[in-house]
Amino acid sequence: MKLLRLLILFLSISTFAQQGGMWIPSLLEGMNENEMKSLGMKMSAKDIYDVNKSSMKDAVPHFNNGCTSEVISPKGLLLTNHHCGYGQIQSHSTVENDYLEKGFWAMRLEDELPNEDLVVTFIVKIEDVTSKVLENTQSLTSEADKQKKIQENISALTNSLPKESWQENRIRAFYDGNQYIWFVVETFKDVRLVGAPPSSIGKFGSDTDNWVWPRHTGDFSLFRIYADKNNRPAAYSKDNVPYTPKHFFPVSIDGVKENDFTMVFGYPGRTQEYLPAVAVEQIVNELNPAKIEVRDAALKIQDGFMRKDKAIKIQYAAKYASVANYWKKWIGETKGLKKSNAVQIKKEFEKDFMDKVTKAGKQAEYGNLLSEFEKNYKEIAPYALSRDYFMEVVMRNTELLSFGYRLVQLENLYHARGEKAFNDRKENFIIGFEELYKDFNALVDEKVMEQLVELYATKSPKQFLPEGLLNQDLKAKTAEIFSTSKLTSYNSFKELLNGDAKTVLEALNKDSGFTFVKMLTEAYNKNVLPKYDEINLKNMALQRTYMKGILELSPKEARIFPDANSTLRVTYGKVKGYAPSDAVYYSPVTYLEGVMEKYVPGDYEFDVSPKLIELYNNKDFGPYAENGKLPVNFIGTNHTTGGNSGSPAIDAHGNLIGLNFDRVWEGTMSDIYYDPAICRNIMVDIRYVLFVVDKYAGAKHLIEEMKIVHPKQKKKKKK
Ligand code: ARG
Ligand code: GLU
Repeated sequence: MKLLRLLILFLSISTFAQQGGMWIPSLLEGMNENEMKSLGMKMSAKDIYDVNKSSMKDAVPHFNNGCTSEVISPKGLLLTNHHCGYGQIQSHSTVENDYLEKGFWAMRLEDELPNEDLVVTFIVKIEDVTSKVLENTQSLTSEADKQKKIQENISALTNSLPKESWQENRIRAFYDGNQYIWFVVETFKDVRLVGAPPSSIGKFGSDTDNWVWPRHTGDFSLFRIYADKNNRPAAYSKDNVPYTPKHFFPVSIDGVKENDFTMVFGYPGRTQEYLPAVAVEQIVNELNPAKIEVRDAALKIQDGFMRKDKAIKIQYAAKYASVANYWKKWIGETKGLKKSNAVQIKKEFEKDFMDKVTKAGKQAEYGNLLSEFEKNYKEIAPYALSRDYFMEVVMRNTELLSFGYRLVQLENLYHARGEKAFNDRKENFIIGFEELYKDFNALVDEKVMEQLVELYATKSPKQFLPEGLLNQDLKAKTAEIFSTSKLTSYNSFKELLNGDAKTVLEALNKDSGFTFVKMLTEAYNKNVLPKYDEINLKNMALQRTYMKGILELSPKEARIFPDANSTLRVTYGKVKGYAPSDAVYYSPVTYLEGVMEKYVPGDYEFDVSPKLIELYNNKDFGPYAENGKLPVNFIGTNHTTGGNSGSPAIDAHGNLIGLNFDRVWEGTMSDIYYDPAICRNIMVDIRYVLFVVDKYAGAKHLIEEMKIVHPKQKKKKKK
């Protein structure tokens, strides 16, 4: 018995040991491919990425430079999350015709809705260009000069490396600048909305369930890529035709079970897995709590208004969701880092690293690294905290201040680059701000500003704040700004920007909102930013050296993956439950029963539509159920982060089985410390997507476009 348990423990440790990490798709051959096969994958690395032939990467475009999406039909049908298409769904909605609330389904191509400014970007080719990017930089001793030369090399290469006229070259740093990779990409600009479930499905559980397992959200929406007659990217035109992809995913409706192989392919945004312990300590104890407190205040106010006023609810829907999303993530991350003793684990890793440095006789290169980190992070602490306050209060969560901030930059642009640059940006503002003001409500924003500037004045390090913020009646100041500033409506904003540079700058400098932001910005630019940048540059250089040391001194079999940087990555693992706390075990699949368990009639997060209840009562699940139950979500050990939203979850054969959209609460710290025992990604089961499209929406024509497969049934028949 004991032996068996030991064996099980050993087996589970060894399968976990092969998980975690976000890998570069062109470099899977060898270690990753072997691991993936041992986890059950039946494909080869070449099926995932191949320069010469079409491969899976040709079906996974970056969605609007933020999320991920996948092509699921030969006619360019594109699947992503509901929360990724949210802005587009919102932009087509009005109080009378609210697609967020009711859902939207185009029953014919002609009904598909064009979206200004929505793009999807495919990767055509991936190639290492490290030596070219680092050419003539080795001899430079100053970090600033080195970075400048690297940037010059990157721009020169971006201009000279071969590509087709409609393509684009991009070069990105990996391993903190120890490796550089060149991507040839293709961006499609005509992407139309095809379908979206109502929020009661697509956002079921809303913010209460966000980042939480067990989950029951049908977080998907459908788009279609359009191309010109030559199947190339083109701006929107009614003459464009559905794009014919190089590859699209077959959809498996055979379902998943615990321990099945899964792989997630997408564009993870940013992780910091190799931070020194001292930096993690700062995030846990200082930076996260500060950001959480600011957002907490802003969210409470917005929520109060949204619950009372339907128009405000639509206006603030996307903004609120995005502010709430990271607010909640930081809370989970902080908890998880504490509970998993991440700081202690990083300290042990560092001790081990230093031992290796000594053994290898590399003290000259790496010996001072950690003490330097220690010193720099102490020194940067008040600057980093001030910077987060400025970003959260001024640039992010008070709209009037963030508008003002952009105008302060406009003034600076005039002084730096003259009238022409000023006029160009001014014209852009006049066009661009119309959208922003459409979703702006001065009543809401005034209350937000009142609280946030108070927090800023009392909590941000005082030594860097301007006189005009300290010891003031900020409530009165806010009221004065909202009653006199021209930043409170689009019409008066346009008035403010009317005329030549001199007139505009004069008007701006008389505006109470503008002058207030200018005062805050000038203090920040003078007292915080230069010093922050100076220390941060040093830390970046140290981080690069640290990374180099880790790569150099780790054993060959160590799994050292580059931090996420919004480039295409592969992560893989298994479908797996987890134990979040003592005596609790979460199984890996949820069912429609769970939706009904959570159902609160009329609730703004947990309402269920009558149509779904009817389908549930009649067990009208079509071919999508399993033993009479309809699967909704499942979890796995894939290592994902923000940007992986909408990523395809793929089975051992390369078929689509789900759609990534979140991580579990206990594992949100995986951006900084990935623990395979409790870090899980959350996916929508593809059968729930198909059920909603087919049975709920009656959009059978979309199902007919897809290629539905049965890999497991086929296997059984063969036997
Ligand atoms: N947490 C998921 C992600 O990071 C989903 C966010 C959208 N949902 C929400 N309720 N805010 O994007
Ligand atoms: N929901 C996230 C996104 O928008 C993905 C979840 C995560 O951060 O892991 O990308």
